[in-house]
Amino acid sequence: MAQREGYRARAAYKLKEIDDQDHLIQAGITIVDLGSAPGSWSQYARNRLVELGKKNVRIEPGKPDGKIVAIDLLPMEAIADVTFLQGDFRDDDVVRQLESVLFQEGIQTQQKVDLVLSDMAPNLSGVAAADAARMEHLAELALEFSQLHLKQDGALLIKCFHGSGYSQIVESFKKVFKVVAPRKPQASRNRSAETFLLGRFLKSSS
Ligand SMILES: C[S@@+](CC[C@H](N)C(=O)[O-])C[C@H]1O[C@@H](n2cnc3c(N)ncnc32)[C@H](O)[C@@H]1O
Repeated sequence: MAQREGYRARAAYKLKEIDDQDHLIQAGITIVDLGSAPGSWSQYARNRLVELGKKNVRIEPGKPDGKIVAIDLLPMEAIADVTFLQGDFRDDDVVRQLESVLFQEGIQTQQKVDLVLSDMAPNLSGVAAADAARMEHLAELALEFSQLHLKQDGALLIKCFHGSGYSQIVESFKKVFKVVAPRKPQASRNRSAETFLLGRFLKSSS
């Protein structure tokens, strides 16, 4: 189905299911896609923004009503209207570059992002404690970035894994967001430990 619909990965359907439920992708929004390669989340998000653009007379036909900036360690084949930066999100310099890309896109960097998506996952070593620590670190970095850059009514959706580290991530989310909810899309059912966590509405601006 992913191939037929032109998606580069089946992961698109996980985001779709969550978006169908939570209506995360809205007209005119700015989205940051962390760990974007090969690109199916950015593809899905762009398709939604193009759909929404059809209802806005100021948007050229076929263009998205909103912006997407994506980042990954790995290269990503270009997606129309998606700005891509290759780099490691754990690296401060790369985060500064991401902020300047957002700025070049005409987006004020402070509290101007509506939605942060993170499907980032470390390369698993097989050592459960080490893998959980790496996952938690990526989640904390996504949370820190969101706290700085999300609008008050913004949202952060991250992938995480049940097991050690999960409850700490939930606790960290609860300190930052008013609403915190786990999400387990059907499309993720075969990956038993994989789950998603959604935080919405910042508790206070930073
Ligand atoms: C499951 S894939 C993402 C799939 C993507 N959402 C899609 O739909 O095509 C996880 C991605 O996270 C990226 N990643 C892992 N650690 C990262 C980091 N520290 N910085 C940037 N990207 C990272 C990996 O390179 C990988 O491409």
